[in-house]
Amino acid sequence: MSMIPDLPADIDRVKGFLAEDEGQALYQHALQLSARGPVLEIGSYCGKSTIYLGLACRRNNSTVFALDHHRGSEEHQLGELFHDPALYDADGDVMDSFREFRGNIHRAGLDEVVVPLVAGSEAAARHWRTPLAMVFIDGGHSLAAALTDYRCWTGHLMRGGVLAIHDLFDDAHQGGQAPYAIYRMARSSGLFEDLGRINSLGLLRRL
Ligand SMILES: C[S@@+](CC[C@H](N)C(=O)[O-])C[C@H]1O[C@@H](n2cnc3c(N)ncnc32)[C@H](O)[C@@H]1O
Repeated sequence: MSMIPDLPADIDRVKGFLAEDEGQALYQHALQLSARGPVLEIGSYCGKSTIYLGLACRRNNSTVFALDHHRGSEEHQLGELFHDPALYDADGDVMDSFREFRGNIHRAGLDEVVVPLVAGSEAAARHWRTPLAMVFIDGGHSLAAALTDYRCWTGHLMRGGVLAIHDLFDDAHQGGQAPYAIYRMARSSGLFEDLGRINSLGLLRRL
């Protein structure tokens, strides 16, 4: 496995849902692509994937737009399987991963590379005009949320840009099938070349 310059030694301690090989793949693609334009991720949580993308973008003087309302997905809510009490704002009775996200981005030295968009996916997309070199979808995993992310953002990919979709599970027992559904839609659209899969990360190139 290749070394990533400046990857924080304690990246394993950044809370998140991204495997090492998936992070490496995001980094390598972003390194190739970010010279041509910015990268946008949907679903930053505490910034694990953002750090991999950000380190690549920094080498090209590019930008990662890190989109997340920071209120958590269904599975992060109080009482759900992936709830983290440390990310819960009891006063407001809401999840809030933004503080943790900001701290992690700052400690990784990426304040000038990462532009947080603290908003819902649909609202952030409404007036979006900027062509994107790479789109990484790792937001809400309900079918409605995944479809919204696909419809709102893939149209902004430049030709030759890469669409990455996280949490593809062949077996429904391993996890929800919504990411897989949009992955299949993309593959059957005729708009993408299949770049294969790394672990649960699917990669497609916009033709
Ligand atoms: C699985 S986590 C992202 C994990 C992250 N990529 C990592 O590397 O650890 C999904 C994130 O999507 C966010 N999210 C869910 N639905 C969203 C929506 N409609 N708009 C914006 N963010 C959303 C949640 O707040 C949550 O932080």
